[in-house]
Amino acid sequence: MSFAGDHLLGLDGLAREEIEYLLESAESFREISAREIKKVPTLRGKTVVGLFFEPSTRTRTSFEIAAKRLSADFVSISGSTSSATKGETLLDTARNVAAMNPDCLVMRHGSSGAPHLLAAEVGCPVINAGDGAHEHPTQALLDMLTIRDKVGRIEGLDVAIVGDILHSRVARSNIHALRALGARVRLIGPPTFLPPVARHWGEVHHDMAAGLRDVDVVMMLRLQRERQGANFLPSLDEYSRYFCLNAERLQLAKPGAIVLHPGPINRGIEIASEVADGASSVILDQVTNGVAVRMACLYILAGRARVAAVEERQVV
Ligand code: CP
Repeated sequence: MSFAGDHLLGLDGLAREEIEYLLESAESFREISAREIKKVPTLRGKTVVGLFFEPSTRTRTSFEIAAKRLSADFVSISGSTSSATKGETLLDTARNVAAMNPDCLVMRHGSSGAPHLLAAEVGCPVINAGDGAHEHPTQALLDMLTIRDKVGRIEGLDVAIVGDILHSRVARSNIHALRALGARVRLIGPPTFLPPVARHWGEVHHDMAAGLRDVDVVMMLRLQRERQGANFLPSLDEYSRYFCLNAERLQLAKPGAIVLHPGPINRGIEIASEVADGASSVILDQVTNGVAVRMACLYILAGRARVAAVEERQVV
């Protein structure tokens, strides 16, 4: 098993074996974070640059922690403090950063496809840390790792993804991963939040009671209000009345079902505090697993660049 790609831009099209390889690699990195000295020399001398053109708490911090636990240098650029604010194009920013010879770029951007554009221009691996409404591959990997930990498998599970699926990169990456790993997907939300293609991804429900019945896993989504135009929702009150996951609705799932949310959560809108902080919630386990997943991705991609460089030196 291995991961063949030069970049990690999405999970769409990855083989089951590649996803499983990434998950198993992440598992092998977990124990480093449990040590008293949480650092190994694996990526010493490597430079990882984070290009974050949208806000982030979990993804940005965990990529930085992951890089530092592997002894790589991590430099982060945020859109709001970069020269993008002076009119520099994304490609010019990328070319200038690439001219400083980083070993890996991690990019979050509001436009779908921005990391793909970057990957075509720079000579180092690119990891997509979330692009528009397209994909968020490392989020889905940490979600898969969390489900595997808590339930013991993914194959054959019934997984409900609830909320603003139309605008959610997290939903897209998770749908690809869950299908590749043999889970059955249910998509629950108001019709305005379900794209027509949703019926090809899984069972579509507009009613929480029907959609949640007997599922093993419930994955709640934040309303992506920064990506929504007008008229998607009559009101937040109405949305939460029909689609907020509260303890009563969670009773419809299988006993012992787990609840995921990628964060940030909007308490009382898509998830009630009694569920977010309750025994079924694995939200903070997801965050913990994010570090291991990002360590694995950086190791595989930035590490590969190092192997190529070593081979080049030997040829010379
Ligand atoms: N889940 C996630 O991507 O969170 P952040 O936006 O805080 O990175």
